[in-house]
Amino acid sequence: MLNIRIEKTTAPKAKPADESKLGFGQIFTDHMALIDWNLEKGWYDPRIVPFANFSMHPACTCLHYGSEIFEGLKAYRTADGKIQLFRPQENARRMLNSSERLCLPQLSEEDFMQILTELVKIEADWVPHSEGTSLYLRPFLIGSDETLGVHAVHNAIFCIICSPVGSYYKEGINPVGIMIEDADVRAVRGGTGYAKCGGNYAASNRAGEKAEQKGYSQVLWLDGVERKYIEEVGAMNVMFKINGEVVTPALTGSILPGVTRKSCIELLKSKGMPVSERLLSLEELERAMDEGTLEEAWGCGTAAVVSPIGKLAYKDKVFIVNHGEIGPVTQMLYDTLTGIQWGKLDDPFGWIVPVC
Ligand code: PLP
Ligand code: COI
Repeated sequence: MLNIRIEKTTAPKAKPADESKLGFGQIFTDHMALIDWNLEKGWYDPRIVPFANFSMHPACTCLHYGSEIFEGLKAYRTADGKIQLFRPQENARRMLNSSERLCLPQLSEEDFMQILTELVKIEADWVPHSEGTSLYLRPFLIGSDETLGVHAVHNAIFCIICSPVGSYYKEGINPVGIMIEDADVRAVRGGTGYAKCGGNYAASNRAGEKAEQKGYSQVLWLDGVERKYIEEVGAMNVMFKINGEVVTPALTGSILPGVTRKSCIELLKSKGMPVSERLLSLEELERAMDEGTLEEAWGCGTAAVVSPIGKLAYKDKVFIVNHGEIGPVTQMLYDTLTGIQWGKLDDPFGWIVPVC
């Protein structure tokens, strides 16, 4: 159990006046959580302090060698004013796996949960009230050795910052256009794809930029070995409804195991819908597009929840999915997940963790 030191701000900021203009990750709250780590001491000085810039040695490991991992989850305000989290233990566990991959220290699930919920309680007034808004929580962990040597770190900093957010995509729940990327890859098997580390995102920006320049929102990633199998869409997991069955790429090591992905699969199965986690080739997807058996396609992740794909482009071919409209399964997943998250629907799965 952590003995968390709490130092409240003496200069609280004004809360956002217009919640319809929140966007994503632009405003930050009054406090942040920190825990230091050292190889000899282990985790020490857990604290919640006023939000402030970091002061860092310019040789700090994370600035040079990408020793950084992060998480992303949300706190939701229910109609009766309570604040709750959605499957936060899944994020704690994924962070343990990311730490292991990047040779960063592992913060226990209990400690992660304790400092996270303590911070959310302190920032409760920052959880926005409007429909579709939430407080995005960003735990992250950085290597902080002050040396240019390349090795597993001896010092690290765990931190959580919070940001009141609206929708991630400017399109909201409207279908987005996606470009299939066959040059750059996001991650490779044996690499860091299953870990949520900053380097994966840095490596994906070039293809993302290219897609944007061509008028698409994001890219559909193919596997790094053969450029044959579908992996993810932008920074989300991807699902397709083909001929009545929901197909999502199997977790082969280069794909991030999303909490939303897992929840969609559990939800679909609970409704008796066929779901298959398997390799899905681009060839099979193209065939489904040509034969008219691709019924729906969507991305899923914490930030956007579910994001329908209305258009898929590959080389000079453009395919419109479900007349460019959100399909019934995509809509059901969005309504059910957001219904549970905002406390409008019952939570038969026990996914919700009440905070205050
Ligand atoms: N894939 C990538 C690369 C991501 O960054 C994310 C977002 O966190 C996801 C998938 C979806 O994961 P989750 O549903 O846990 O947010
Ligand atoms: C998600 O939550 O779906 C994300 O991809 C987070 C993103 C801002 C990195």
